[in-house]
Amino acid sequence: MKKRAKITVVGAGNVGGATAQRLVEKELADVVLVDVESGMPSGKALDLAEAAPMGGYDCRLLGTDRYEETANSDIVIITSGMPRKPGMSRDDLLRANVDIVKKVTESVAKHSSEACLIVVSNPLDAMTYVAYRVSGFPRERVMGMAGVLDSARFCAFLSMELDVSVESISAQVLGSHGDSMVPLLRYTTVAGIPVTELLPPARLQALIERTRTGGGEIVGLLKTGSAYYAPSAAIVEMAEAIVRNKKKILPCTVLCQGEYKINNLFTGVPVKLGSCGVEAIVSLKLNEEETAALAQSVDAIRAMHQAVDQIL
Ligand code: LAC
Repeated sequence: MKKRAKITVVGAGNVGGATAQRLVEKELADVVLVDVESGMPSGKALDLAEAAPMGGYDCRLLGTDRYEETANSDIVIITSGMPRKPGMSRDDLLRANVDIVKKVTESVAKHSSEACLIVVSNPLDAMTYVAYRVSGFPRERVMGMAGVLDSARFCAFLSMELDVSVESISAQVLGSHGDSMVPLLRYTTVAGIPVTELLPPARLQALIERTRTGGGEIVGLLKTGSAYYAPSAAIVEMAEAIVRNKKKILPCTVLCQGEYKINNLFTGVPVKLGSCGVEAIVSLKLNEEETAALAQSVDAIRAMHQAVDQIL
């Protein structure tokens, strides 16, 4: 009989906790929630275990500060890292989080050498690169969560604007998880109709801008901390595609080695996710304008990769 999958979630904050909840509610895997001290992850795991009779799930849950407990995970989700605080430069955040993601990756890679890594820590493209370099895993098993979230935000805004079900909308947001992300309007459709035929350019531009700053909009409203409902849903969509071997096409941050003419950089592109992790990178035909926007995003990502190289 096939065993249930095992997923480790590192970082038991809001994103980690919500991710664990969604994973067990879908009965996708047994979940180990890890944080630097044992009380908080143990408390969240126990709380979720006590919710199981109402939720109707039989997954095992464990909270711990001991990486030994994560051994032989099929997937490890890395959410650890400092959020940006007022007065902090991007470089400050980069340096602090390189150290954190490096330590976490070393620990999880040691105990789960066959796992797929899904990185969520920011700055996302750079942190996924850190996990790749430190783990030594093949590129098929190291990916960042960004495009699914950014595309979902764009879909949600389009759904509000057009008063159409989110289920009828399909969006593609590529490139960096930052100001230079690239929403592909020709590939963003409502029941198959390109959205460019449904909304005037100025409205589309406003929705693209809102998508680009979507994370910041939530930070501004919450005052303490950042988004977690949509990020956790995006993580679980990726995890489900792997656990259930769905071969789902999703925009993820992966190492491009020549695809889209991008060399050795972690960039958001559409990929096929299945039980082997990133099973293919899907090539979309881009026009001149889209190619230029992606190139600009790639420049921003390259600068962050170089900053990582200097720290590691
Ligand atoms: C956001 C964080 C998860 O975009 O990067 O909300």
